[in-house]
Amino acid sequence: MAKKSAIDYVCQSCGTVYPKWQGKCDACGEWNSIVEEKKPSAEFSNLSSKKQGNLIDFVSLNGESQTYQRLVTNLSEINRVSGGGLVPGSVILVGGDPGIGKSTLLLQICAGVANKFPNNSCFYISGEEAIDQVRIRAKRLGLADAPVRLASTTSVKDIIATLEKENPSLVIIDSIQTMYIDDVESTPGSVAQVRAAAYELIKIAKKKGFILFLVGHVTKQGSIAGPRVLEHMVDTVLYFEGDRGHHFRILRAVKNRYGATDEIGVFEMQDNGLIEVENPSALFLAERQGCVSGSCVFAGIEGSRPLLVEIQALVGNSGYTGAKRAVVGWDSNRLAMILAVLEARCGMNFSTHDVYLNIAGGLKITEPAADLAVAMAVISSMTNKPLPADMVVFGEIGLSGEIRAVSQPTLRLKEAQKLGFSNAIIPNSFAKDKKQKLITGMTYHEIGNVQRLISRFN
Ligand code: TYD
Ligand code: MG
Repeated sequence: MAKKSAIDYVCQSCGTVYPKWQGKCDACGEWNSIVEEKKPSAEFSNLSSKKQGNLIDFVSLNGESQTYQRLVTNLSEINRVSGGGLVPGSVILVGGDPGIGKSTLLLQICAGVANKFPNNSCFYISGEEAIDQVRIRAKRLGLADAPVRLASTTSVKDIIATLEKENPSLVIIDSIQTMYIDDVESTPGSVAQVRAAAYELIKIAKKKGFILFLVGHVTKQGSIAGPRVLEHMVDTVLYFEGDRGHHFRILRAVKNRYGATDEIGVFEMQDNGLIEVENPSALFLAERQGCVSGSCVFAGIEGSRPLLVEIQALVGNSGYTGAKRAVVGWDSNRLAMILAVLEARCGMNFSTHDVYLNIAGGLKITEPAADLAVAMAVISSMTNKPLPADMVVFGEIGLSGEIRAVSQPTLRLKEAQKLGFSNAIIPNSFAKDKKQKLITGMTYHEIGNVQRLISRFN
């Protein structure tokens, strides 16, 4: 029998294992992310041992199940994103770009829980920063007196030996990429180390029933293992996003075994830490200029919460350089589709025009319900006709130019009304849905297709 190679080739971005080196990972499409790693030994591959497994007891679906006693933190945005509070024994991965504010957020959570529940022991273990650095941050946040137990180490064995002796309620590991187990022969930050360290930490969290937060950096280079390899091992994955040039940050749940996903928490980064934003719509619309062409307010929904944002478009002559398209905060393919629909169904011509689209404030929108608002911003810029300042818009655009209904129109309109908007352009299938009640006090313009939309600008 051929001797088995002791080496695997592992993609550092998604964790796929190959028998041979190759330039591009077939699974995630990343280039140059595959590196040589020694095969993990005993722990993960002991199925070949002679010992037989035990028999499994099967039960029926219908039976008593445990209800979770959630730990409700003092940060309501965290409670919202986690589905009503943190579940003991659950593991939460917080991913995000370096410098976005993960350590700040987790120190605030840890100190907040420690202050609120003085009988619980809360641990903050930093592998990235020295004790002094964390202390300076705690002072800056005004949380230096919180009964948090702080340590700076990178050894998973030491952490596990210590936690075995304690009775922790909450443990923060900042970050998982700095942790290492000396039995695993790979450098800290490699997929093998990250996975083994996370596996051991998750095991003890489940055994002892404490809440475990793992911080993971997202890197595009692939030299450090992205947290994507951990996503299926943990219960909840939160992404902390935001534009460094802007002061607000969004915490987004992308996976949650104990609550809804797509829920967002909104924070503002200030001198003394992250402040929760109770009314995100007001924040995102704060710098709006009123009656300017190319600006349209979209009434969106993020998770269970309505959110109003300004969509800005700028259409200009492209001269001889070829038409440019640039999009910030939205899908560029979707913009291309909308421009194509406007060209095909309304006779507009963008082939000699540059089109720039921006979601004001740096928010990323994924809802197709923003189509209509994008189309209106583009037409408004193209025709140089501003839209009324008190108007909100929502609706999805189909390829034949039809405007389709979107979910939760009432919630969107209520939020708009609360913020002083009195005019709305909405899909005309809205009224057909008899369950939805129209809100009084707002004027509606129901619209069925993009051709009708153009006529509003004439
Ligand atoms: P940090 O939490 O260290 O980011 P991460 O752990 O994701 O790498 O925070 C990074 C930035 O936040 C840093 O550039 C400074 C800024 N910051 C504030 O603006 N206000 C504050 O109170 C704190 C603690 C940090
Ligand atoms: Mg940090």
